[in-house]
Amino acid sequence: EQARQIQQTLAEFRMKVEIERGLKKDSHKDATVKMLPTFVRSTPDGTENGDFLALDLGGTNFRVLLVKIRSGKRRSVEMHNKIYAIPIEVMQGTGEELFDHIVHCISDFLDYMGMKSARLPLGFTFSFPCHQTSLDAGILVTWTKGFKATDCEGEDVVELLREAIKRKEEFELDVVAIVNDTVGTMMTCAYEEPTCEVGLIAGTGSNACYMEEMKNIEIVPGTEGRMCVNMEWGAFGDNGCLDDIRTTYDQAVDENSLNEGKQRYEKMCSGMYLGEIVRQILIDLTKRGFLFRGQISETLKTRGIFETKFLSQIESDRLALLQVRAILQQLGLDSTCDDMSRRAAQLCGAGMAAVVDKIRENRGLDHLDVTVGVDGTLYKLHPHFSRIFQQTVKELAPKCDVNFLLSEDGSGKGAALITAVGCRQRELEA
Ligand code: BG6
Ligand code: GLC
Repeated sequence: EQARQIQQTLAEFRMKVEIERGLKKDSHKDATVKMLPTFVRSTPDGTENGDFLALDLGGTNFRVLLVKIRSGKRRSVEMHNKIYAIPIEVMQGTGEELFDHIVHCISDFLDYMGMKSARLPLGFTFSFPCHQTSLDAGILVTWTKGFKATDCEGEDVVELLREAIKRKEEFELDVVAIVNDTVGTMMTCAYEEPTCEVGLIAGTGSNACYMEEMKNIEIVPGTEGRMCVNMEWGAFGDNGCLDDIRTTYDQAVDENSLNEGKQRYEKMCSGMYLGEIVRQILIDLTKRGFLFRGQISETLKTRGIFETKFLSQIESDRLALLQVRAILQQLGLDSTCDDMSRRAAQLCGAGMAAVVDKIRENRGLDHLDVTVGVDGTLYKLHPHFSRIFQQTVKELAPKCDVNFLLSEDGSGKGAALITAVGCRQRELEA
């Protein structure tokens, strides 16, 4: 227990160090936590208005959405959406195939809604690290999670989308904003709850964003006001700063992944990898002869076989969990593999504590009240993750009162709100 607490405190402290590195001009180039500017300067104020298309790519589901936002006293948001599959061959094929597929899905959606001829503004939720120089330009730094399409890294994904729309020659769209899912989630929640200034995803991947002071974002000119920063905290630890916390199982998961050496924190605390950690533990126990009579089955050798939803199920079943625990304890292995979900929730909580405390310090406050908008299957479906996560934040950031707000509408709504602001800006500039 004490060791666990020391780990959490260390993780929080180191996250704070990496946040500063990512923000500072002198160090941001080599920073692992990239702190990417998003060009989103404020949360919604209710004046957003219009009809927008939104794409939501990078989580469990790929969606195309139509979002109708009405401003004023009786402000409202109406949404229509359709989920499309992205086959693994497309996720890991060529960039052209991936973007052609996306445009094919948009085309199907427009047919379905009977709107082929309307040239709508579009907000693109693209849940990967992008270097932005404006609201509508984002150079993909690197793929993460299960994606690995060729010829996309180093390219502006908004351009890739525009080119694919042109190739299709069926309809025209105005791509106005590229939005990380954390940012979309924060905006979705902030529309309902103005104190929401942080976004968190605990799903397939793990990441957070928050409203940072412009004067602290040294790579963006200007010192007035705030801008949302996409932290890309999944890469925390890629410089080795978490090596003392990582186990041989974490290393095995990393070696087996599409992006070895990268996203080390994400691999310890997100849905795509938790099951993999458990699979590595099972392989190890089997090799040592403790399980399955020492025979490693073909199934157990299969990457991704142990989906995190199974973990949620196992942990929901009290009796089974107690039995598993008892067995592990007898084997003397409970400290390493006791509860990967608990460790994930605590590590993620340590990251969040660093963020909210940073906001408090920014504002020179002794006490901060803030809301965090949250989405992601791990957070929503796991029976204990959210509780342990929240408890950790409370312990590590005692000067902050943090309210967690679940996003019910996904990040597409937030992307549409950002698009609305982007359209207004364009009109002002024209
Ligand atoms: C969804 C958001 O609700 O949650 C997506 O709309 C986001 O933008 C996703 O990527 C994250 O959760 P998961 O578990 O699907 O990765
Ligand atoms: C990965 C992506 C990041 C995204 C997160 C959650 O970490 O790099 O951009 O926000 O997953 O989906």
